[in-house]
Amino acid sequence: MKTYLIYILFAGLLTNNTKGYDIDKIKLEGGEKMKILVAFYSRTGTTKKVAETMSGILKCDMEEIVDMKSRKGLWGWIMSGKDATQNNLTTIKEITKAPDSYDLIIIGTPIWASKMTPAVRTYLSQNKEKIKNIAFFCTMGGSNAGNAFKEMESFVGKEPFQTLEIPAKEVAQGTYVQKVKDFTVEILKK
Ligand SMILES: Cc1cc2nc3c(=O)[nH]c(=O)nc-3n(C[C@H](O)[C@H](O)[C@H](O)COP(=O)(O)O)c2cc1C
Repeated sequence: MKTYLIYILFAGLLTNNTKGYDIDKIKLEGGEKMKILVAFYSRTGTTKKVAETMSGILKCDMEEIVDMKSRKGLWGWIMSGKDATQNNLTTIKEITKAPDSYDLIIIGTPIWASKMTPAVRTYLSQNKEKIKNIAFFCTMGGSNAGNAFKEMESFVGKEPFQTLEIPAKEVAQGTYVQKVKDFTVEILKK
């Protein structure tokens, strides 16, 4: 019986690893639950997968930023690189979530030519005054998003609560989830 109880306790400690991220218990200073939006653009689904995982953990709203310009095929890829390099804006579909009704907006973008995507640049340019607090995440083929985050920070004029970069390879392999959990915990400590 004693061994059984010890086993249950030990198993509880182990499984508590996920419950340890008790998002509902992490509150804003005033005791209110922080209202969070994950707003992201994704061309081929990698950033979307991370956004879905993140909003699932945080149990928060999600807004997919939709680029009305076709980014398909080789030509789409070439123009995407060109638009990103030249800091071009694009046309995005009308958003459905009012940014000023959130305490924190987590922006997700793929890295294009070491920069944020035109769709995210457009979202930020249209809404930056309405954003109270911000955090960034990105996915990328390589392994360094430093410049993109610095530029995003100066573009919005707000220091991000936290940043997270995930190589596309880790998303494909499914090994990215712990990084997302750690990111959400760090954010909610702020
Ligand atoms: C036009 C274009 C430019 C890219 N430039 C970079 C880059 O500079 N650095 C990098 O690490 N990955 C780069 N990538 C790879 C994407 O960032 C990566 O595949 C990302 O995970 C795709 O996200 P998505 O599936 O959400 O669209 C580029 C991809 C495209 C389409």
